[in-house]
This record gives sequence, structure tokens and C-alpha cells, in this order.
Amino acid sequence: MTQEITSGFPMAGAPRFESIDAVRQGLAGVDYLADEGISGVVYLADRLAKPVLVEGPAGTGKTELAKSVARLTGSRLIRLQCYEGLDESKALYEWNYKKQLLRIQADAGQSWEQLEEDIFSEEFLLPRPLLEAIRSPEPVVLLVDEVDRVELETEALLLEILSEYQVSIPELGTVRATQIPLVFLTSNNTRELSEALKRRCLYLHIDYPQLERERAIIETRVPGISKALADQVARIVRSIRTLDLKKDPSVSETLDWARTLVVLGVESIDVEQARDTLHILLKYQTDIERASKELSGVQAPD
Ligand SMILES: Nc1ncnc2c1ncn2[C@@H]1O[C@H](COP(=O)(O)OP(=O)(O)OP(=O)(O)O)[C@@H](O)[C@H]1O
Ligand SMILES: [Mg+2]
Repeated sequence: MTQEITSGFPMAGAPRFESIDAVRQGLAGVDYLADEGISGVVYLADRLAKPVLVEGPAGTGKTELAKSVARLTGSRLIRLQCYEGLDESKALYEWNYKKQLLRIQADAGQSWEQLEEDIFSEEFLLPRPLLEAIRSPEPVVLLVDEVDRVELETEALLLEILSEYQVSIPELGTVRATQIPLVFLTSNNTRELSEALKRRCLYLHIDYPQLERERAIIETRVPGISKALADQVARIVRSIRTLDLKKDPSVSETLDWARTLVVLGVESIDVEQARDTLHILLKYQTDIERASKELSGVQAPD
């Protein structure tokens, strides 16, 4: 028994945003500070009904962008957290075998045909994030987080769904989206994604923010911080990022450092305090040593 569960191609629907600037301002309203590049891609993703592939260093606001767009548009956020070994049954759907077995035992008198129709019905279906996003009657932001961790086969499955916005369930039929979800795929670049997936997506690289924007992010996300301290933190972090480190401090680490300084009652950072708290910002001893030397004005050895 195969049937169309919903018919017709998904409609792009009314635009969610009026302009690129409306995206930027809207995001700022939910405490996400985007630059022109980020707002522009989000705007186009909506207009062109294309997924966004977001790449960039750790902790630069890739995941947070999808969450913030969901908040801004009043959409439900559906998240597919990727990991090695993620397969269809966890990404798309699976059948509730336990429940099916119980039904088979209970209905021993039924013909196999009747039973089959019964146990492969909606009642026994366990929808996973991708199917949920396709079927949702409400507006959805779909976040496929850390897509570079899945195997190529799973990536192909994603690609299929993102090009058609439909899912075929052999026992039930084809489920087509009635509205196109906004889709964000994030990647830390642990492996190259397929050309096909890249072609399907709009590409957004989020790098460490410019000084101005990082300072604004600190002021927005760290309650009680003074303008002067936010400025100082942003400048020091920026100079630390120019050093040749194993791992540059991310925006989230900058925020942790700023929060630490506020908790310690620091109003203006001196070298001593900076050095004592560097372990919040940097996670390798060699990086901490290098940054300490830099802060004291002593050149680090090569
Ligand atoms: N533009 C921004 N505006 C406001 N907050 C931001 C911004 N960018 C980053 N942040 C802050 O940094 C934190 C980390 O961001 P997020 O978890 O999205 O990073 P990520 O890029 O997904 O990192 P990872 O690659 O490690 O998953 C967020 O929780 C948020 O507090
Ligand atoms: Mg993330």
C-alpha cells in the first residue's frame, strides 16, 4: 500500500525577511550580532529556498546562528546532531520493533497481509529529525550540526532530502514538505564535504569577528560588564589571536574570560590578572606561556 501523504511541491512561502538589514537587526534583537556577510546569506537562503552550509573555527557562532534565526522567525528548531555512525534510522525514521512485536503476538489470528498493513502504519513509526522537519505543519529551522562527522552515505541521504524536500517511506509512501524549512548545516571542516552537497548549499564562512563586533558581542552576552572592560577584553583577545598558537581563543572562550573577570570584580585588566586567568581563554600550556610572555612585553622564544 503506497500513498501520497501530502501532495504538491513545497511552496517557498512568503519571504521571512524584508531586507538584509532587517535580518541583521532582527538577529541583534535576539542577541546574535551578525555582520553584513552573515545577514546577507541568511536573507538569500530564505529567498532562494536553499540550505546554508556554515563553516569556520570552533566557537564562532555557527550553531548559535541557526538557533537565533529560529528564535527570530518564531520557528521550531529541529536539530540533527551528527556523529560518526549516524545512520538513516537515527536521522530519518525507524520502526518501533518492540511495539510491532507486541502487536504481532497479540494479533496471532490475523492474516499476514492484514498484520503487515497494521504494523507498518503511522502508529508504529518513530520519526527522527529529518522526517520531523519535512512533516512539520509549523515553520521549522532545521539544524544539521557538525555534518562533517557523518560518513559519505549519510551525507548522500541528506543531499537527497535537501534537494527534494521529500522522504520516501517504502511501506507508507512519499512524504513531501508543505513548506520549505530554513536549513543550516554546520561543519568544523574535519573532512571535505562532497562537491554535490556544497553545490546544493549557500556557503557561509564565519571567522573570528572584527574588533567592533566582538566587543558588541561581549557587551550583549556578559551582563554587568562595563564598556571599558569589554573593549579591553576584545583588544587583548585580538592581539592573542595574532600569536602563533596551537588553538586560538574562540568567541565562547572570550565570553568565558569576560564573565570570569566580572565575577572577580575586575574593572580594568592588568598584566598580573590577565596572566592569572589566561587558562580560561587558552587550553594548551604552551599557548598560555606564549601569551603570558606577550602580555608582559617579553618576546616568546621561537
Ligand atoms: N555573533 C554572535 N553574537 C552573539 N553571540 C555569539 C556570536 N557568536 C558567538 N557567540 C557566542 O559564542 C557561543 C558559541 O557559539 P556556537 O556554539 O554557536 O559556536 P560554534 O561555531 O557552533 O562552535 P563549534 O564549532 O565548537 O560547535 C554562543 O553560545 C554565543 O554565546
Ligand atoms: Mg557548534
